[in-house]
Amino acid sequence: MHKIAVLGGDGTGPEVVDEALKVLNAASRACGFKYETTPFDFGGDRYLRTGEVLPESAASDLRQFDAILLGAIGHPDVKPGILEKGILLRLRFELDLYINLRPVKLYPGVETPLSGKGPEHIDFVVVRENTEGLYAGAGGQLRRGTPHEVAVQESINTRMGVERCLRYAFDYTRKRARNKTLTLCGKTNVLTYAFDLWERAFHEVGEADYKDIKRDYAHVDATCMWMVKNPEWFDVIVTDNMFGDIITDLGAMIQGGMGIAAGGNIHPGQVSMFEPIGGSAPKYTGQGVINPMAAIAAAQMMLAELGESAAADRIESAIAYVAANKLKSMNAGKMGYTTSQVGDLVADAVATAK
Ligand code: IPM
Ligand code: MN
Repeated sequence: MHKIAVLGGDGTGPEVVDEALKVLNAASRACGFKYETTPFDFGGDRYLRTGEVLPESAASDLRQFDAILLGAIGHPDVKPGILEKGILLRLRFELDLYINLRPVKLYPGVETPLSGKGPEHIDFVVVRENTEGLYAGAGGQLRRGTPHEVAVQESINTRMGVERCLRYAFDYTRKRARNKTLTLCGKTNVLTYAFDLWERAFHEVGEADYKDIKRDYAHVDATCMWMVKNPEWFDVIVTDNMFGDIITDLGAMIQGGMGIAAGGNIHPGQVSMFEPIGGSAPKYTGQGVINPMAAIAAAQMMLAELGESAAADRIESAIAYVAANKLKSMNAGKMGYTTSQVGDLVADAVATAK
């Protein structure tokens, strides 16, 4: 029995999570696994009502679950940063979800802005470090609001934090068994402290324990260039928190947009949190026009992490089938179906093993 905490969150989050749960239900019937869901009301509405961003006990409560399915965080009436830092980032840190796994995969029939590129070219995975770097919150301000103001924001990179991320990425590359190539994305020519650590750890760990994996390196700016020009060169990319944030928005665009991009905040063997990476899209709230595919793909990643690989594969095939044969577009309002109809289509495809 998998115990799943459901955080619908803000904006269109609850709508897309409903569709993911519909598909989860279809997969459980088809594949025979059991699960139960528990809703949590964390998000902007709760904050505006209670003045509390997240209860003290949130992390310890969530640790009682096997996985967390998250919709989106971000509310138009709450100053940007409060909910993102207070909920999303806080849970990533408190639950020590040190991997942010973000597949970049173009399904057949899905439009990409890259001309001349198709599904055979766009199929790689970004492993983003998720608990350190510029996100650690180190730094401060001095004489704020005066002409002598100083603002410092430091990137924290620990050998332990970097190495566990690299090991995950090497293991993932081995398991994925595609080109067996792991690319470190950094900036060794400018960030000569942080990426010196990353680069040494990368080669030491790779040399000692992953001789079968080819090691490659690209600066972050070049990575952006290759993602557009030759995305087929990538198999698995490992990078720090900030660069991972940036390149995965680019990744989402080349795989067909925010409507399809999903990610997992993972601590292997512990409770992990899965989310569509597109955000709360407040202007579309309640209209039934948002694409739930990314949330469905997040549920698929969750099942894979929970060890339900047959069910995960079945959902992935269903996503590919519906994307190729049903949806006119991946974009909100242009799918040719409502949010709930897209959920029905994928659930049907799961039930009939399409
Ligand atoms: C993401 C988001 C978050 C991040 C924001 C909302 C804090 O952009 O998940 O990529 O920067 O990590
Ligand atoms: Mn982001």
